[in-house]
Amino acid sequence: MESKQNVSKLNKIFFFIIIQIVLSCTIFYLIRIKMENVTEIEQPNKIVDVPQKPFYIILLWTRPFNYHFPLNNCPQPFDSSDCFFTLDRNMFSTAKAVVIHHRNVCNSKQQLPQIPRPPNQYWIWFNTESPSHSPNLAFMDNLINLTMSYRADSDIFAPYGWLEMHNETQNFTIPEKTKLVAWAISNWNPSSRRVKYYEELKNYLKVDLFGKFYNYIPLAKTEKLATLSKYKFYLTFENSIHEDYITEKLWTNAFLSGTVPVVMGPPRKNYERYIPADSFIHVEDFPSAKELASYLLALDKDDQKYQQYFNWRSTYQPTKQRRSWIVEYCRVCKALKEAPVYRTIPSIAEWFK
Ligand SMILES: *[C@@H]1O[C@H](CO)[C@@H](O)[C@H](O)[C@H]1NC(C)=O
Ligand SMILES: *[C@@H]1O[C@H](CO)[C@@H](O)[C@H](O)[C@H]1NC(C)=O
Ligand SMILES: *[C@@H]1O[C@H](CO)[C@@H](O)[C@H](O)[C@H]1NC(C)=O
Repeated sequence: MESKQNVSKLNKIFFFIIIQIVLSCTIFYLIRIKMENVTEIEQPNKIVDVPQKPFYIILLWTRPFNYHFPLNNCPQPFDSSDCFFTLDRNMFSTAKAVVIHHRNVCNSKQQLPQIPRPPNQYWIWFNTESPSHSPNLAFMDNLINLTMSYRADSDIFAPYGWLEMHNETQNFTIPEKTKLVAWAISNWNPSSRRVKYYEELKNYLKVDLFGKFYNYIPLAKTEKLATLSKYKFYLTFENSIHEDYITEKLWTNAFLSGTVPVVMGPPRKNYERYIPADSFIHVEDFPSAKELASYLLALDKDDQKYQQYFNWRSTYQPTKQRRSWIVEYCRVCKALKEAPVYRTIPSIAEWFK
């Protein structure tokens, strides 16, 4: 009787264990299926996006300053339908070009690709900063095949802005002006030439400061152009003076907002390669800040003379295609189709000064 009870107890335990095993296996199997499905869904379906010939893979070695933007999405007129852009370093050996953004690799040579490179691959040196803010250019010696920067003599010219011609003469309406001079500055260096110039200038006329540091009014991106458009003049003082280094301070802050730029940067002749001579005022047109101030104050009282700084707008307009990371990379696709079969640059530092 006792042993019979024990057998039945054992049977129960055995049955319970079997049930447990079956359940565990089922659950394990279900989880596996689920996981496989998840990995399958998360794999980007690259096949769908692969373009037709000539088909080039362009590897972005890093995101520029770690900015995120959609890669294979080039706006008109930068059509790049036969290139495929990727951040996947596993594609290094099949990439036609590797775009190396200087500021992301300039801390150490180890940040450059260390894998053996295919002989017909192009390494493209990409930089939007001026030479003053581009350390360790020597790291690039004998590595680079093509350059991409704001310098007009780059292999791939990537300016901060440009002018477009109207199809027909336009009547430009000057935005309503209620204020005199604005300056937006984010990097306040008291010993810099531009800050010293401002300190002198402000003795003779009022300059309203905007920017994210120092003790001035922050300027929200959305309101920026509307706020600046109320000013007659905008100080476009570059952070350093180098050939062709003419930035969004001119193209966006001054031109798109509809003010007259007062520029500090490369010489007037350099600006005139890109914009009409009567579209801007150069600080070097005057012996000192005092004379510049007198000129601006005189223009403030002479509407007809002030309006002449807008005459060029009947023929041209600043591009509304703002400089964007995606556009910079889109230029690479076209450039690859026209690139020389072999090219190598012994020294970027020799040229980028
Ligand atoms: C000029 O005309 C062309 C062709 O009609 C058009 O595609 C283009 O958008 C026009 N440009 C401007 C600035 O209006
Ligand atoms: C521009 O203004 C002039 C003079 O007021 C006028 O004759 C002309 O038709 C205008 N053009 C356009 C495109 O509006
Ligand atoms: C790019 O430059 C490297 C280094 O000089 C060279 O080995 C390679 O063949 C060049 N590639 C092209 C496509 O010119």
